[in-house]
Order: sequence, then structure tokens, then C-alpha cells
Amino acid sequence: MTQLTFVGGGKMGEALIAGALRGDFAAGQINVIEPDAQRAKTLTEIYGVKVSSDAETVAGADVVVLAVKPQVILQVCGDLKELIAPQALVVSIAAGITTASLEGALATGTSVVRVMPNTPAFVGEGMSVLSAGAHASQADLDAVRAIFEPVSRVLVVDESDQNAVTAISGSGPAYFFYLVEAMEAAGVELGLSAAIARELAVQTAVGASAMLSQTGEDPAVLRGNVTSPGGTTAAAISMLDQAQVRQAIGVAIKAAYQRSIELA
Ligand SMILES: NC(=O)c1ccc[n+]([C@@H]2O[C@H](COP(=O)([O-])OP(=O)(O)OC[C@H]3O[C@@H](n4cnc5c(N)ncnc54)[C@H](OP(=O)(O)O)[C@@H]3O)[C@@H](O)[C@H]2O)c1
Repeated sequence: MTQLTFVGGGKMGEALIAGALRGDFAAGQINVIEPDAQRAKTLTEIYGVKVSSDAETVAGADVVVLAVKPQVILQVCGDLKELIAPQALVVSIAAGITTASLEGALATGTSVVRVMPNTPAFVGEGMSVLSAGAHASQADLDAVRAIFEPVSRVLVVDESDQNAVTAISGSGPAYFFYLVEAMEAAGVELGLSAAIARELAVQTAVGASAMLSQTGEDPAVLRGNVTSPGGTTAAAISMLDQAQVRQAIGVAIKAAYQRSIELA
């Protein structure tokens, strides 16, 4: 039975623990290393997993998931280097940190897989994008897939694509939240109550997302279907075009891409 150790039981770590338990893992197969005592207590109470602040518990792991902030991850690798079993697979979800830098901070020859997840993993609708490091095999990628599939769709890309992935799906949920915020504010300006404006904007986002994923139709076609010439939607889309919103989204995503390169 695969033993899984999470290093860091924060927001993303918790989403993955919950997902692993929904998938093939039993609580007895999961250990968490988490320095915050209150957080440790919460995770044990909710999920029944073993949580401790003792780094030595990493020694029994077949798969180590590093779920700490990018700023500390290389330091954490250095601290755990001697403790991680030589055949163990190390998985990193840290934005911007390359497999090469992780491999450099771990024991020589360690198998590393880098993953860019996103926050919809909390509700089982995430997007996780995997890249293999220099020593990771297909079997390693399959093992990582089994951890992320219960909470997300999974794709494998070449690591050179990870900055673009970060800009689209990693940061992407925030772009949709931004649109919902703007729709809600506009609804209030038009005289709706805040509660009604929010419900309309949120459910419209849910419905539009479901149409995209369930029909598999091109978004431009779905948009065309609700945009009758001279109608209300056409009036709105024409203003979006005039304000160059499409171009602005492109510029925004390129800024996220650039920032991801800088963080690396
Ligand atoms: N949240 C997202 O949307 C998202 C999306 C994609 C990728 N990620 C990646 O996921 C990683 C974790 O993000 P997060 O949002 O889950 O952060 P978080 O909530 O801050 O969780 C990190 C956890 O790790 C703990 N920690 C710090 N140092 C540690 C150590 N030496 N050993 C063990 N645990 C340690 C922290 O404890 P303290 O608070 O006590 O320091 C905290 O509980 C990041 O690398 C981020 O890039 C996050």
C-alpha cells in the first residue's frame, strides 16, 4: 500500500488530502507534516490522518507531496533530503519552481513530478497539469495522476509549458471571479439587491461553465447562440469589443505568464 506524506497541510494540501481520501487512499496511508498545532488538530479531526510536526515521518513515504509555499520549498527539500527514502517519488505543487531546482535540492537521482493545480480542486473541479522531472518515469506520472484525479482533470505537458499553464488554469479561477464581481456590481447599479445580483451572476457562471463542459461546443458558438443581431446581448458584446476587453484579457494573461517566469 502506497504511503503518502504531505509536507504542508495548508489550503491546497487539505484539498488534496480530502481528494486522496475520496480516491484510492485510506486515512492510514496518509501522513501530514504540519508545524501549526491548531491546523494539525483540525486536519486530524476532519480527516483522521496522522499529522505531526516531526520531519522524520517523511522517511516512511513512497510519495512525498510538497505543499508548502514556493518561497520555502527549496529550504524544505534541503531539510528533508537525507530523510526521504531513495526510491520515493517527490511531487511539488509550488508555482514557478522547476523540477531541475527541486532535483538540485534533493538527493541525486530523486524522481520529481511538478504539478500546477488550481483552487477548484476544493470542490472536485480542479485542473492539474503534470510535468515529469529528469528521473520520473511513466509509472511515477501514473501515481501522481491517482492523487490528483479525485479532485481535478489531469493533463501532462512538457515543463516548458508550465508558465503558460500557470497563467491560464493556475491563476484562471480569479479571472472568472473578477467577471462575477463586475456583473454583480453592475446588477446593483441597475437597482437589484446585492443578494439577488450575486445569485444571478453566480448561477449564470455555473450554468455557462456547465454548458461549456457538457456540450463540448466551441465557446464562440455558444456565445453566438445567445447573441441575436440587434438584441440585448449584442449590445453588451459590442461594448466589450469597443473597450477592447478581449485584448485586455490577453495582456493580463501575458502578465501572469511573465510573473511566473520571474518567480522561477
Ligand atoms: N492555493 C492555491 O490556489 C494554489 C494553486 C496552485 C498551486 N499552489 C501551491 O500550493 C502550495 C501551497 O499553497 P497553499 O495555498 O496551500 O499555502 P498555505 O495555505 O500557506 O499552506 C502551506 C502550509 O505549509 C506549512 N509549512 C510551512 N513550512 C513548513 C515546513 N517546513 N514543513 C511542513 N509544513 C510547512 C505552512 O504552515 P505555516 O502557516 O505555519 O507556515 C502551511 O500550513 C504553494 O507552493 C502554492 O504555490 C497553490
